[in-house]
Amino acid sequence: MFTIGVLASGKGTNLQAIIDYIKEENLKIKIGVVISDNPSAYALERAEKEGIKAICIPCEKYKTILDKKTEIEYVKVLKENNVELVCLAGFMRVLKKTFIQNFPNRIINIHPSLLPAFPGLESWRQALEYGVRFTGCTVHFVNEGIDTGPIILQAVVPVLPDDTPETLHKRIQEKEHIIYPLAIRLIAEGRVSISGRKVYIK
Ligand code: GRF
Repeated sequence: MFTIGVLASGKGTNLQAIIDYIKEENLKIKIGVVISDNPSAYALERAEKEGIKAICIPCEKYKTILDKKTEIEYVKVLKENNVELVCLAGFMRVLKKTFIQNFPNRIINIHPSLLPAFPGLESWRQALEYGVRFTGCTVHFVNEGIDTGPIILQAVVPVLPDDTPETLHKRIQEKEHIIYPLAIRLIAEGRVSISGRKVYIK
């Protein structure tokens, strides 16, 4: 069994997509723990409903990062639960050195744009305001930059003339729910390797 940990701050639709895909495909992947920094994250409820261990570790000191002590706490819980791959699914804090060094090339994220375009927050809104014809989503390894790690998978989504930020985000999320579970599966099956910035898939 390959054990993953999921970190989520919000509604957790990606978490749900991962849970459903593991079940549908009968994969040898276990979600060992779901951790949130937000006590009211619906992701925690989703995990509990599925019988998955769900823990809230808040960090009141900062809004967009974790303080060092809290980072150590996250790492401890992930390791105690034998997590081999950390999956960020709408986790709204940037991970720092302590965290990243504990899971070298073992942290991935789903981002709602075709990176390197539109890193940061509300990328669907950025894409709409910029006027691009196509945007999408990216699964990438996490390094110390913001949305800058090596790219594993991407999917393209058209921007339609009457799109609102909400309709565009919804269309992007439909693709996220396909490529994120798939990327996890590829890593779990040992089919992904990294060389510099390039990711190779067997
Ligand atoms: C997604 O749009 C993801 O790309 C971004 O945060 C959002 C999380 O959505 N990183 P959900 O909580 O999985 O529904």
